[in-house]
Amino acid sequence: MIQTYKTSGLTLLALAGLCLAGAGLGIAAQKHETAAAQAAPLSAVAKLGKAIFYDQSLSGSGTMSCATCHEPANHYSPANALPVQFGGPQLNQPGLRPPPSLAYKMATPAFSVGPENSAEEAAEAAPMAEASGVALASQSAPAGGPVTGRPVVKAVASADNAVPQGGMFWDGRVDSLQEQALGPLLSPFEMANRDEADLYRKIKTTYGTQLEALFGKQVLDDPSMALAEVGFALARYQVEDVDFHPYSSKYDAYLRGKATLTPAEARGLALFDDPKKGNCASCHLDKMTGDGQMPDFTDYEYEALGVPRNPAIPANADPTFFDRGICGPFRKDEFSKQPQNCGLFKTPTLRNVATRKVYFHNGVYNTLEDTTRFYVLRDTDPGRIYPKKPDGTVDKFNDMPDSDKANIDVIDAPMDRKPGQPPALNEAEIKDVVAFLKTLTDGWDSKKP
Ligand code: HEC
Ligand code: HEC
Repeated sequence: MIQTYKTSGLTLLALAGLCLAGAGLGIAAQKHETAAAQAAPLSAVAKLGKAIFYDQSLSGSGTMSCATCHEPANHYSPANALPVQFGGPQLNQPGLRPPPSLAYKMATPAFSVGPENSAEEAAEAAPMAEASGVALASQSAPAGGPVTGRPVVKAVASADNAVPQGGMFWDGRVDSLQEQALGPLLSPFEMANRDEADLYRKIKTTYGTQLEALFGKQVLDDPSMALAEVGFALARYQVEDVDFHPYSSKYDAYLRGKATLTPAEARGLALFDDPKKGNCASCHLDKMTGDGQMPDFTDYEYEALGVPRNPAIPANADPTFFDRGICGPFRKDEFSKQPQNCGLFKTPTLRNVATRKVYFHNGVYNTLEDTTRFYVLRDTDPGRIYPKKPDGTVDKFNDMPDSDKANIDVIDAPMDRKPGQPPALNEAEIKDVVAFLKTLTDGWDSKKP
């Protein structure tokens, strides 16, 4: 594992967070409607982070950068439809999960297990998340538009209401953008630098002078300190550059009272919100909060939905292999050993979801229609979702070991139905929900409705 010098890193982060929050405030207050166009200039640290984000020489193959898998032109998701991306020195090592978009990550609280719907409180309590941009996120929220309360509170399976929430990656295994950034640089199936020393040599050669100028001469004395600052710079870039969180979709314009939804989009939104129909908004939060913060379409909580296995993932050729989310294979801390966390994955944002090419943590679906259909057919008509076993019965929840199946969410609508009951959404309603999801793509132009 990477050794980070946590104490001094945190102080620095907190300081930088304060400066930025101050700078962001003025800009946001003056120009809230054209946030995308009125980007604040990047700080020197963020500029360094940007250079590193695009630098292919920092990979073992010499041809891969962060932008390869998180493509800026596709809202920081891959533009190809592969279920997993290939990395490594020869670019032939498959990953295990589809890359999430990097947009709208800055308000992600640190990982914790606690009471439901406390994502905001967790964010306030977590200094790392604070420093990765919570402050900025709340500043950039525009005023005006319909303000409504939080959607219905979800039912919970666990008696003590303690649910995992927050953290980076599909399994929440790191707490902040800063900590996250070194993972891909060293991962054997991503940028695949041999080790920290190898990465440090490259960093020192290309960015040594800049690092010294920004963080003082001593930064290069300690490789782990220098690499922690690289992570910090990458995080600052993602927090400061408004392109990572423009809030410029048609739905944002609608929330600000500047756009009208088409009848299909409006029906889709109503179905998305309705606790007895889609009930989507109970996890993918879609309301502006009382203090004017725009919704990020996630409650940052973890759920086991039991999506079907994706045979296109190379690791799945082994029938005994399972991606168990919080319980591994990547996560190895105390939470990964707690049976109630197994099979759970983080609720992703749905912003820009129509531009993603594969859906769910295993990329099993390629269309929003299929993804939405999964929710309503999983329990009412599982034969349309899962393959059959040799004996002809439906192999429901076939991407989980039996030991984890007790964790599957069978309480929250629309996943609370029984075989033979009508699905919570019919085909026409699924089309409407998809029409609504398409209003979440950034860069909406009012002249081209
Ligand atoms: C080979 C493709 C690849 C490259 C290159 C890559 N990533 Fe990723 N990234 C992924 C995958 C796959 C995940 C999800 C992994 C998981 O959940 O286990 C991910 C997740 C993330 C996340 C967490 C997002 C979330 O929703 O929790 C961040 C932040 C991130 N990457 C930033 C970066 C940065 C910064 C770089 C460059 C230093 C980078 N990535 C390079 C594939 C890549
Ligand atoms: C109980 C909480 C919950 C509810 C209700 C819910 N979702 Fe999700 N959603 C999740 C979780 C968790 C994931 C990730 C699951 C996984 O990959 O295993 C997810 C993933 C998705 C994805 C894939 C996004 C991506 O980038 O891969 C889409 C699309 C989506 N949900 C749409 C919907 C729609 C539409 C509804 C309503 C019909 C809905 N969700 C209801 C929790 C929920």
